Amino acid sequence: MNGLARVCWITAPLYAVLGMSFGIYMAASGDHTLAPAHGHLNLLGWVTIALYGTFYTVMPQAAEGRLARLQVLLAQLGVIVMAPGIVFAILGMGEGLAKAGAVLILLGALLFLIIVVRATGRSAAGA
Ligand code: HEM
Ligand code: HEM
Repeated sequence: MNGLARVCWITAPLYAVLGMSFGIYMAASGDHTLAPAHGHLNLLGWVTIALYGTFYTVMPQAAEGRLARLQVLLAQLGVIVMAPGIVFAILGMGEGLAKAGAVLILLGALLFLIIVVRATGRSAAGA
């Protein structure tokens, strides 16, 4: 497995453990105020990063180069900024962090789109 896929596959379950612990804490306390932060930590951290990791495992040639490293960096920074950003937004402590996280997440997804189009085009040409 290439290094970039491994980064995704190690961080995704880490986000899952954090997100699920957050969920259990909410369920146990009965306080669901921060549910959107829990949901997005799981969905952007566990699910989305695992999907990126799956793609980079299936198509290792797509993981080569700076663009792919930048893509994973943006996705990771997005999760790390967005999850606490949603907590801050819900608690009325400002929306700046959530907005910055959303932009990072979106840029990561756009870059992923470009990487997928390029890599699948190359493999289709080689087939
Ligand atoms: C140990 C595992 C988990 C526990 C105990 C848990 C617990 C909870 C609780 C208590 C809520 C609030 C429900 C409500 O107020 O209606 C919630 C909401 C949610 N959870 Fe989880 N959860 C877990 C795992 C996950 C995972 C793995 C995902 C996604 C892959 C996920 C996605 C969501 C979403 C999207 C919401 C709704 C967020 C919103 O209202 O905006 N959860 N969860
Ligand atoms: C830039 C990225 C994203 C932004 C800015 C964003 C924003 C939001 C907002 C504002 C809400 C409403 C929260 C509330 O009602 O309190 C929401 C809910 C939700 N989002 Fe996202 N989201 C993003 C990415 C995603 C992704 C990638 C997924 C799934 C993989 C997702 C799944 C959900 C789900 C399941 C809900 C809860 C819907 C419900 O409670 O009916 N979001 N999101």
